[in-house]
Amino acid sequence: MDTRNNPWLKLSILILCLTLKTHLSHGGDTISGNETLSGDQTLVSAGGKFVLGFFKPGNSSYYYIGMWYKKVSERTVVWVANRDTPVTDNRSSQLKILDGNLVLVNESQVPVWSTNLTSANSTSLEAVLLDQGNFVLRVTGAVSNETRWQSFDHPTHTWLPGAKLGLDKRTKTPQLLTSWKNTDDPANGLFSLELDPDGTSQYLILWNRSKQYWTSGAWNGQIFSLVPEMRLNYIYNFSFYSDANESYFTYSVYEESTISRFIMDVSGQVKQLTWLESSRQWNLFWSQPRTQCEVYDFCGPFGVCNDDNTNDFCKCLTGFTPSSQNDWNLKDRSAGCKRNTPLQCESSSLSQQKDGFSSQHSMRLPENPQTVNAGSRSACESACFNNCSCTAYAFDSGCSIWIDGLMNLQQLPDGDSNGKTFYLKLAASEFPNSSSDKGKVIRIGVGSALAVVAILGLVWFIIWRRHRSVGTGKTVEGSLVAFGYRDLQNATKNFSEKLGGGGFGSVFKGRLPDSSFIAVKKLESISQGEKQFRSEVSTIGTIQHVNLVRLRGFCSEGTKKLLVYDYMPNGSLDAHLFHEKDSEVLDWKKRYQIALGTARGLTYLHEKCRDCIVHCDIKPENILLDAEFCPKVADFGLAKLIGRDFSRVLTTMRGTRGYLAPEWISGVAITAKADVYSYGMMLFEFISGRRNSEASEDGKVKFFPTLASSVLTEGDDILILLDQRLERNADPEELIRLCRVACWCIQDEESQRPSMGQVVQILEGVLDVNPPPIPRTLQVFVDNQEQIIFFTESSSSSGQSSKPRSNTSAASSQTKSTVSSSSISEK
Ligand SMILES: *[C@@H]1O[C@H](CO)[C@@H](O)[C@H](O)[C@H]1NC(C)=O
Ligand SMILES: *[C@@H]1O[C@H](CO)[C@@H](O)[C@H](O)[C@H]1NC(C)=O
Ligand SMILES: *[C@@H]1O[C@H](CO)[C@@H](O)[C@H](O)[C@H]1NC(C)=O
Ligand SMILES: *[C@@H]1O[C@H](CO)[C@@H](O)[C@H](O)[C@H]1NC(C)=O
Ligand SMILES: *[C@@H]1O[C@H](CO)[C@@H](O)[C@H](O)[C@H]1NC(C)=O
Ligand SMILES: *[C@@H]1O[C@H](CO)[C@@H](O)[C@H](O)[C@H]1NC(C)=O
Ligand SMILES: *[C@@H]1O[C@H](CO)[C@@H](O)[C@H](O)[C@H]1NC(C)=O
Ligand SMILES: *[C@@H]1O[C@H](CO)[C@@H](O)[C@H](O)[C@H]1NC(C)=O
Ligand SMILES: *[C@@H]1O[C@H](CO)[C@@H](O)[C@H](O)[C@H]1NC(C)=O
Ligand SMILES: *[C@@H]1O[C@H](CO)[C@@H](O)[C@H](O)[C@H]1NC(C)=O
Ligand SMILES: *[C@@H]1O[C@H](CO)[C@@H](O)[C@H](O)[C@H]1NC(C)=O
Repeated sequence: MDTRNNPWLKLSILILCLTLKTHLSHGGDTISGNETLSGDQTLVSAGGKFVLGFFKPGNSSYYYIGMWYKKVSERTVVWVANRDTPVTDNRSSQLKILDGNLVLVNESQVPVWSTNLTSANSTSLEAVLLDQGNFVLRVTGAVSNETRWQSFDHPTHTWLPGAKLGLDKRTKTPQLLTSWKNTDDPANGLFSLELDPDGTSQYLILWNRSKQYWTSGAWNGQIFSLVPEMRLNYIYNFSFYSDANESYFTYSVYEESTISRFIMDVSGQVKQLTWLESSRQWNLFWSQPRTQCEVYDFCGPFGVCNDDNTNDFCKCLTGFTPSSQNDWNLKDRSAGCKRNTPLQCESSSLSQQKDGFSSQHSMRLPENPQTVNAGSRSACESACFNNCSCTAYAFDSGCSIWIDGLMNLQQLPDGDSNGKTFYLKLAASEFPNSSSDKGKVIRIGVGSALAVVAILGLVWFIIWRRHRSVGTGKTVEGSLVAFGYRDLQNATKNFSEKLGGGGFGSVFKGRLPDSSFIAVKKLESISQGEKQFRSEVSTIGTIQHVNLVRLRGFCSEGTKKLLVYDYMPNGSLDAHLFHEKDSEVLDWKKRYQIALGTARGLTYLHEKCRDCIVHCDIKPENILLDAEFCPKVADFGLAKLIGRDFSRVLTTMRGTRGYLAPEWISGVAITAKADVYSYGMMLFEFISGRRNSEASEDGKVKFFPTLASSVLTEGDDILILLDQRLERNADPEELIRLCRVACWCIQDEESQRPSMGQVVQILEGVLDVNPPPIPRTLQVFVDNQEQIIFFTESSSSSGQSSKPRSNTSAASSQTKSTVSSSSISEK
């Protein structure tokens, strides 16, 4: 515009005025009636939490209007306007108010997205980005700010705190939370979450808006019945509202500074995540369905889902490759896999050999079978063979065939009782050694399979031989013995004597040829590769201390990962503390020594190893006792081996949550102080001889740490706290010391808890310990009857259902920390 040189001043000013007005001031939160948003311009909400503007996801070549967090360093989009109608140029496309609507016009000024309001009235509208992450179109004016439209009513894949996600009962239309198509494409994907259209209080997840594969279970006022993890939740406040016209859930975050979102992920799972600035990543709080393969048809037609393979859950059936490698790489597996070689029956060429069948074992059978009347497997096979659209059959008391795509396949672990065998139709050339004449292909298929089995058998035999020698201790890795699976099978009499089932896998008793006893732990679902596993294991192998269980060796053969430990004849501490029948009650002296030894072992882990190791799962089950009742901490280092996402921790710790520190739930980084907390909780149990979370016999609930804490504060007779079976036989001074330490250990603020090193010094009598304050969490139990009830119900939860803690300094990865100077003083 050549306004500057225009001789008519009046016009020039007018046009200048126009130019200024149509250009949005950068960083404002409002688009008013005659402004536009384009190019690099953005809106920033008043409190600086959200930004709105054009963005280009990943490697996409398209632009979208989206909203993301201003303070989250990794750009995280929470809402997209034109998710199905992208534009190719951000400069000539404009977001503006047009005829009473908020409209996005593309390069040719054609509207591609609109708020679609019918009562058009543009005279006094403005679009404002609010600090909650809500983009609203409202009537301007001092009298009333009537909202015409808001993005909260039209969520894409993210449900933000403060928004509703519900059902319009009059039209029976639920609001959908719909996954992106793939990680680079915000278009509507296949998976969506909605509130049950029948009006119940449960959420459903649907595949392609039709097939339901998950439900949350009904809301009981506190949790969704099928999401028990929510019991532990004290970050989010979910609430349900229902009247004649609508019903919905909404949620808020107690701690306002917590950045949290709830998404329908491209994985087909709903996930709740909190942002962890210290590690600059989103921390998974929980996800549902719990395993990937519960997501309907996640790997698409001819794709096979395998929960054990956490690197990539999907692969194609043999003879198939991804239909679209690009989508596949972007985690959109819905297109599934396609045949490498067309079937003979499909192709016109007559020279080809006849199609064959390849058996697929331990599978969840495909969806939509058709029943065929056939009395034998060969009749069933020929039924499938003779119909070109038939792709597979199974014969299991009856004959089933499948037409076209095989959907929702899952590879189950060997020996899974739900595992079935089906036979997949493949072109003859897909079978190795298919060189002989027509008509015998099927038999050849079987024959070559036998050959493969024979070769594998030979290889296996060689490996087995090698490992046999390994098993007797010839080959070692560092100080560790690499065992063969077969050796361990023999040593444990095929895993017949189970010692326990910890969070990371079951433990079996065994005996080596040199007649020493071992404990063999079969690890479950290791997500690590071979190299990483070995390096992690050899790190654990170097950690040796009299109060730590010694790792003797390991076995790593494919998915079979086992750890071999010294066997502890007196088993785990819980059996001695909590189970009456095991005759001998641990006397006070032993208990004190066990407390001290455990503290020493943990101190070594926290402070003396090269890298600080946080155990993450301290509880009596993980304290083992040797023949002399010397305590040995077990299972250290495994949390890292398994990889720690929150769901996993919750799953592995199910039933033993009484020991979880509050920071596990609030999403801040976990430090050694989390172990201190668990240790403290455990000390109370040393004293009382029963689980903290147990109800007393008369049904009245007493949370022992609360009781102990008040006895300490009131100065009552300390011996009333003691396990009755000990008949007051304990040194009261030691008892007070143990109680005080326990109380300090379970302080809400990590910085207030002592380090394990300090605990050792206190128990040794080198340091003195001052009376502790009552932890806030315990006060909540006293104040809030409801919380105490929640306790008994789960019979395993404890101190975490309080108000959220403030997230001060918790993220620093300190291993040492000073207990507030008033608490401890040199003797
Ligand atoms: C833009 O809007 C303001 C008030 O919102 C009005 O005063 C001004 O005349 C408008 N300009 C144009 C060019 O429409
Ligand atoms: C807008 O497009 C230009 C040119 O393609 C690009 O350089 C710029 O980064 C884009 N702006 C945004 C906010 O995506
Ligand atoms: C973009 O594509 C390249 C090469 O295909 C890939 O390495 C890179 O990770 C992709 N980036 C994103 C953000 O997806
Ligand atoms: C703008 O959108 C219209 C309608 O969808 C389409 O026909 C046109 O090609 C688009 N313009 C450009 C430059 O993409
Ligand atoms: C608005 O209406 C058009 C045409 O009916 C439709 O294609 C588009 O999806 C609607 N947009 C929104 C945001 O609902
Ligand atoms: C349009 O908006 C003005 C000002 O808010 C109001 O007075 C008028 O009634 C509205 N017209 C319609 C058709 O809604
Ligand atoms: C409406 O919004 C304007 C500016 O956004 C504000 O000044 C005014 O107080 C608001 N009015 C009401 C009734 O909230
Ligand atoms: C989803 O359903 C629609 C019909 O509702 C169908 O056309 C489409 O093919 C389905 N998508 C897939 C991946 O099966
Ligand atoms: C949870 O949210 C509901 C509804 O917003 C509110 O009434 C209730 O007080 C909140 N609870 C807590 C503990 O903040
Ligand atoms: C339901 O909607 C009707 C009509 O829109 C309205 O009159 C009624 O008050 C609403 N009921 C409730 C409980 O909001
Ligand atoms: C194959 O079987 C399907 C399902 O039973 C049937 O609909 C189809 O007609 C059959 N095709 C042939 C060629 O027989």
